[in-house]
Parts: sequence; C-alpha cells; structure tokens
Amino acid sequence: MPADDAVPAAKLDIAHCPLAEINAFDPEILNDPYVYFRRLREEAPVFRDPKTGIVSVSTYDLIMEANRQPLVFSNRFGAALRAGAVNGMDAEEMAILASGVAPIDTMLTADPPEHTRYRKLAMKAFTHKRVEQMGGIVARITNDLIDGFIADGQCEFKSTFANHLPMTMIADALGAPRADMDRFHRWSDAFVVQLGGVSDRETRLEAARRIVEFQSYFVERIEEKRAKPTEDVISDLVHATLAEEGDPRGMNHEELLSIIQQLLVAGNETTAHTLTAGLYYLTADPDLRARVMADPELIPGFVEETLRLLTPTNNMWRVVTRDAEIGGFAVKQGEIMLLRFGSANRDEQRFPEADRFIVDRPDARNHLAFGAGIHTCIGAQLARKEMVTAFPIILARLKNPRFPTGRNAFRYDPNILLRGVLELHVEFDS
Ligand code: HEM
Repeated sequence: MPADDAVPAAKLDIAHCPLAEINAFDPEILNDPYVYFRRLREEAPVFRDPKTGIVSVSTYDLIMEANRQPLVFSNRFGAALRAGAVNGMDAEEMAILASGVAPIDTMLTADPPEHTRYRKLAMKAFTHKRVEQMGGIVARITNDLIDGFIADGQCEFKSTFANHLPMTMIADALGAPRADMDRFHRWSDAFVVQLGGVSDRETRLEAARRIVEFQSYFVERIEEKRAKPTEDVISDLVHATLAEEGDPRGMNHEELLSIIQQLLVAGNETTAHTLTAGLYYLTADPDLRARVMADPELIPGFVEETLRLLTPTNNMWRVVTRDAEIGGFAVKQGEIMLLRFGSANRDEQRFPEADRFIVDRPDARNHLAFGAGIHTCIGAQLARKEMVTAFPIILARLKNPRFPTGRNAFRYDPNILLRGVLELHVEFDS
C-alpha cells in the first residue's frame, strides 16, 4: 500500500527523519530496509504507521509473542488481501478473479481449527519420507542446470539456476510434467505479485488472469488424479482424509487449489532468493568461500546464516482479531499487522553482531526465516535439503566466482513480503 503523497526515500534522511515520514513501501526502503528496521526496533518495536494504519512488529521477542497467539494475531489476512484492504486491489482485478474458482483460506491464511485440519491433510502428502526421496534428485538437477551454462564462463545466476531448482523440485513432487514448467513460473510470479502489493495496475491485472489460468489447469489435474491415483503430492492431497480422527471428508476443488497454490508459490521465490544470496556471499567474500570449501561441515551453518541475513520472507501479514496488547502497545480489532521477520533476524538482542555473516554462529538455526509457531514453514526441510545439496556442487563447479564489472545493480525486488535481488551476474573459471 504505497502512500502516493510520501516523499521518496532517496530524498529523506532515513537515519534521522521522523519514522512517520518514511513510506515503508518505497522501493528504496524495500531495497535496503536495515536502517529503518534498526530504528523501528530501537524507537518503536510496535509502530502504527500514520500513513497506512499498518502496525509493524520488529523485534525478535515480540514477533515470537505474536506467533504464540495465532487466534489474536491471526493469519486470516486472505480476505483483507482479496478486498484490497492491504494491497490496493481494484474492481477490475476482483472481477477477473471472480471469473475463476472462488479463493478460500486454507493453511497460510487460516486459523485453528481449520488451519489444524488443513495442515494435517497437507502433511499426509508432504511427508518426511517423500521429502527425503525428493532430496535424492537435487544433485542431478543442480548438475543438469549448471551444464547448461558452465561452458560460457559466466551466467545470470537467478534466471539460469536459482529459479529452476526449486520449481523443478516442486513440479516433480506435484506430479506435473516438466514441459509445463514455464507456465508454473508464470503462475508463481502472478501469486507473488498479488501478495506483494506494490506492482502497477497492468501487472496486477495480468497476474489475476494468470491465477485464473492456474486454477483451470489444476482443476483438470485434480480430476485426473481423482479418477486414477498416482504416486505424487497432488494425488495424495486429492485422496487425503482424517478418517482416523473420525473425519472422512476429503478436500474439494477450492481447498485443493488453495493448498496446491501455497506449495507451488511459497517455496519457489523464497528458495531461489536464498540460493542467489548464498552465491552472492560466496563470491563477495573469498575467505568465507575458502573456509566453506575446506570444511564441508560448515555448509549447513552457511545455509542458516544466509537464510538469517537475507530472510526471503522478510515480512508477513497478520490481522488483529480483538482489542489486545503487545509489548505494552494497544492494538485494535481489525488492524493489519506486519511481522518483520527480516528485522527480527538482525535483532542484536538475539543475534550478537547481527549484521555480520558468521558461518559458525552457534544458534543461527534459531532465526525466524521460516517463521515460528503453528505456521512454521512446512517446506523448511525441503528447502534446506535443496540448499545443502546444491551449494557444494556450485562451489566445486563455478570455480573462482567473481562479479563482472558493471553488470550488477544489486537491486532488490520491490515486494513487501519477499526479499531478494532481481539478478546476479557472475563469472567463473569453468
Ligand atoms: C528458503 C525457503 C523458504 C522460506 C524462507 C520460507 C518461509 C516461510 C515462512 C516465514 C512461513 C511462515 C508464514 C507465517 O508465519 O505466516 C512459511 C510458511 C509456509 N511455507 Fe515456506 N518457506 C520456504 C520454503 C518453502 C517450501 C519449499 C514450501 C513447499 C514446498 C513452503 C511452503 C510453505 C507453506 C505451505 C506455508 C504455510 C504453513 C502454514 O501456514 O501452516 N515453503 N514459509
């Protein structure tokens, strides 16, 4: 929800101007939010922005406190998004979406008891065992993707590698043909646009059309799998029930589409951004690279520290369900909140020298990049597996990586929820 009358961040002294003057949706702030985050943590850890009414929560402890009370600080923000309350959706966009399947709130955008049911149903398809099996193909996909550009001695890493690894993994898991991958990318991007709330109108209308296209494609797949079960996540979701708990209901089209959408979208851009950030750190810091190459046991810590410092899901919405209090600050029923995970992960009270990459930081894994509480990321195991498998291969094959002069702007996607650079050019000895 950009404030049209706000002064551009480039013209403001972000370190000193009143917090109320800063437009949190300004692309310059989204590009580099850390001075703003530090000020929020120090001056107003719970901050009601007078321009938008949105309440930011920015310290580690207060975000944990909010996550411990999911019925007060609710994830039912789907309705607010669809009504345009937080992302400026207009009538034409709503009309396009209305021509498709009515969206409903399942996992990410549901509260207990519905959330509990959907999460259990999703876990039946997205089992630990299945993720372990999926992990077996990460190395092959990683090598295949690198084969595609290794001879060039250079690449734009996000579009040639990072976008494809997580998308291929999830498409395989869903049982969708690889030939449909381009469409998957288009749909995933469309959902990111819808959630992010800072795109222009034409982009948003196009995104709405693609979302309707996504729905009709997957309704067909659901029908196929209902008629003929197969060994994949969609088929398992279609046939999942909680009969053992006395609830024999399966999920209908609306419910299934919502869950499939979340599995498709939540893990792609987030993992792609983390892979790209990891290569950025390895390229920018030869000492770090040498240490990680010399001691592969540092790889898991390297991944956690990359997740902590980037925090690809930088912010997440909540809706306040009743008048309440957090950190001594009164909030009102119906208010929209932003939990600023990206700020919590740089909170010096929790992580000493929080802005530094410390590859053997003992408690790096306690970061909030995957959230906390009942909505903790369901794909964390898969994302970690992809990254701890891919990075040693990247290190071994993209030798002596460096940034080509003048090619990188290091600009971050102007998206309020997701954080990551738009592109990363690297050269290497092949
Ligand atoms: C680096 C990669 C990833 C990051 C940083 C990430 C981050 C997050 C975060 C912060 C949440 C909590 C949202 C909240 O508190 O409201 C979340 C939830 C979720 N994530 Fe991820 N995620 C990643 C990968 C994945 C993958 C690979 C999948 C699936 C294949 C996935 C599926 C989901 C789903 C379905 C939820 C909702 C869970 C619920 O509400 O119970 N994520 N993720």
